[in-house]
This record gives sequence, C-alpha cells and structure tokens, in this order.
Amino acid sequence: FHVDTDASETEKGVYPYYMLKEIDEQPNVMRKLSAKYLDENGAPLFDKKLLEAMKQADRLYIIGAGTSYHAGLVGKNLFEKLVNVPTEVHVASEFAYNQPIISDNPFFIFLSQSGETADSREVLVNVNQKDFPSLTITNVENSTLSREATFTLLLEAGPEISVASTKAYTAQIAVEAILAKGLGEFKEIEVAKNFDIKQQLGLVATGMQSIVDEKATIDDLSKKYFVDAEKSFYIGRGTDYFVSLEASLKLKEISYIQAEGFASGELKHGTIALIEDGTPVIGIITQANTASLTRSNLQETMSRGAKKITIVSDDLARNDDDIIIPTVDELLAPLLSVIPAQLLAYYTSLNKGLDVDKPRNLAKSVTVE
Ligand code: G6P
Repeated sequence: FHVDTDASETEKGVYPYYMLKEIDEQPNVMRKLSAKYLDENGAPLFDKKLLEAMKQADRLYIIGAGTSYHAGLVGKNLFEKLVNVPTEVHVASEFAYNQPIISDNPFFIFLSQSGETADSREVLVNVNQKDFPSLTITNVENSTLSREATFTLLLEAGPEISVASTKAYTAQIAVEAILAKGLGEFKEIEVAKNFDIKQQLGLVATGMQSIVDEKATIDDLSKKYFVDAEKSFYIGRGTDYFVSLEASLKLKEISYIQAEGFASGELKHGTIALIEDGTPVIGIITQANTASLTRSNLQETMSRGAKKITIVSDDLARNDDDIIIPTVDELLAPLLSVIPAQLLAYYTSLNKGLDVDKPRNLAKSVTVE
C-alpha cells in the first residue's frame, strides 16, 4: 500500500542529521497532539468505547521495549495520579515468557513507535488469545501492533528516521497524559478534572522551544565534560529517575559512553564505587518532594570526585545549577527534562565524529525476539 507523507517529513533539509531535526520538531508535535486529541475547550476527544473498556480495568499493564518502555514508566505515574488505577510497566521480552500474576480485569497498553517490535507482538498475541482488551499507541498507522490490538491511537509525530528515538518518546508521554486526563475525567476523578492539559501542553511546547533555542550551551557542556568521558551517570527520583533511564540510553546508544540511569538514593548502595575523578554525574530535579534528597545524593558523588551537572526546573533552581528548564506541572516535567539529555547525546556523538543517525549494532525496528 501507499502512504502519503510530505517530502519535508522525510528529508533532512538544512539539518546535518535526522536526530537534530526530530529533536527540533518536538514543540510542533505537542501542538499537533493537542489539536488532535483535545477540543477547543481542552476536553479530551476519545472513542467512548475505549474509555468504557479502560474504565472496567482494575489494573493497567503497559508493555514496551527500549525507549517505549521508558515512556511507559512515565505513563504509570500519569495513570496512577490522574486515574487512580494501579499500573504496571513491563519490558516486553520479559513479560512474554515470565508473566506476573494478572489481575481479574486487566487492560493492556502497547507502546511502540514502529508498531512492529517482535517482543511486544509476542505479548499481544498472548493477550489476544486470552481475550483481554488492549490499546496500541504507535507512530505507524496500520502497523502490526496497531491492527492486532482492540483499539489504537496514533502519535502524530511524523516519520522518525534516526535510530535514537526522540520525538516518539515525548509524543508517547503526551498521548498517555491526554488519555489519563480523559479517562480520569470519565471516572470523575477530581485531580483529573482539575488538570488543565491543554494549557499545560501549551507550556510544554513553548518550554521545549526555549530549550532547543539554547542548544549551543549543551554543545559546550558536551565538549567540556563528555567527549572524553568513559562513563557517566544520570540520577533522579520518581519520574526524574524514569527520565534518567531514557537519558542514559540516549547517551550510550549514540556516543558509546557507558551511561547508567540510577535511582539517586540507590547509588550509594554499591554503584558509587564507580565514581572517579571527573566522572560526569547529571542530576535531574523536577519533583519538589525529592529535590533536596537528589541534591544530597549529588553531593555524595562530588565528594568522591564526580563532576556534577544539573537539569532543574526553574522553580527548584539554585545559583549553581547548570541547565534550568521552564517549570510545568510536575506530571509533565519529563517532557522538558529529557530535551537537554537528547541534545547532550546528539552533540556528544557529533563531537566524537560518529554517525549520529546510524549507531553501530542497532536497528530502528527490531523484528526478531
Ligand atoms: C529498537 C530501537 C529503539 C526502540 C525499540 C522499541 O531497539 O532502536 O529506539 O525504542 O526498538 O521500538 P518500538 O518501535 O517498539 O518503539
């Protein structure tokens, strides 16, 4: 079959690599999603059947691989806070062969940029055999996971060509947020009713734009601390930890620097042994209730020689912070805190003279288990 795409969507244009183009497109993807899934008053527009099916669920199961799994972790927080429903997130390849005990009325959400990942499909085949309802959130219309699930929602991110996923991650989080708002309202949950998703996504889009407009400062950081680094750490708590996992994956997959995302409180229980003089440790701080704890954990690494770098929401920032990002609702902060990390990975790969869009050993879509 033939898919119509605008030539500008599949050409690099003025960009040296697709990855930078795709990073820059994110503000626009946020606006597109807002226009597609919300009416002019900010009310979510979803098929009633989807909301009904999800409302029946006593537990949500989010399944994904790689970056999509990381977007699922952020989604768990959104569904638990806005819908008040227990939510589990699983790596597809693990869930397929080591299933946990499943609740009486599960609802499965598959996150997949390509809609073709074999590990995720294996789970969906099993879910269909058991007649459990499911939703695929994907960037590719008519993809296998999209066709085989009960419901499907599109990411509207436009083709993502660079192997390292960027705009699909933020689009997945945005769709999860709108869906959580819609379902929460449908279930008459107070927090969801009061969550102004339209206004927040507007702030996110503007915030993303201001970060990508300042990309030169991240290039400088990359040259100063990362180009010659052998290893590095991203640390945070709660959703900041979930973003740390994605941030470190970005860095390692295209710069080949060993990078670990860590729950900041857990680092001292062993892994801190790896900190040496000059090891870059990046702290992500967007959650008020854990900000000071992550700061003390950063301090612990600095006293062992680490070079600290912070990515901090404006309202929690101090004078010695490095990358200050605009403040949005804490639920959506991952949409902004990940942008400097994407740029840092991009520039480090570029500054090392690597092929940013086609890193070694990796494929955009993995159709083997
Ligand atoms: C591959 C890609 C990753 C991606 C993962 C899951 O490993 O290199 O960027 O996150 O597959 O892909 P999906 O299309 O299911 O999101």
